[in-house]
Amino acid sequence: MTVIKINALTVPAEMGDEVARRFAARAGAVDDQEGFEGFELLKPTDERTTWLVVTRWRDEAAFEAWRSSTAFAHGHRGPEGGGPAPMPIQAELWSYEVALGRGV
Ligand code: HEM
Repeated sequence: MTVIKINALTVPAEMGDEVARRFAARAGAVDDQEGFEGFELLKPTDERTTWLVVTRWRDEAAFEAWRSSTAFAHGHRGPEGGGPAPMPIQAELWSYEVALGRGV
């Protein structure tokens, strides 16, 4: 069953645009990952400063495999790996499954 893993990124309000820029320039290393079903970056439109990276996976094992893969490391590499400088981001991982729905 599809699992949904949400990375909740809280950043200072003035740095939100930088988060968007970084995702626009993202590595794309996740795209070919076995069991990856897609993601969306959700931007807050109220006073919150938490952005959500909503990812969908075939199952728990597929997600865990990606997290311990070089593709994950590549998609999150810092300046020493040719990536961007770190941002003051607070990250929290949320784990969900669809209980009920329509569409998508
Ligand atoms: C300390 C934890 C994390 C932080 C601070 C973080 C932050 C970021 C940032 C800023 C980017 C944009 C690319 C970059 O600047 O390197 C990114 C990429 C991404 N993040 Fe995270 N992230 C974390 C963990 C996670 C986790 C646990 C997930 C899964 C739910 C996730 C999902 C993604 C995806 C799918 C991308 C695009 C990667 C690609 O294109 O290959 N991140 N993350």
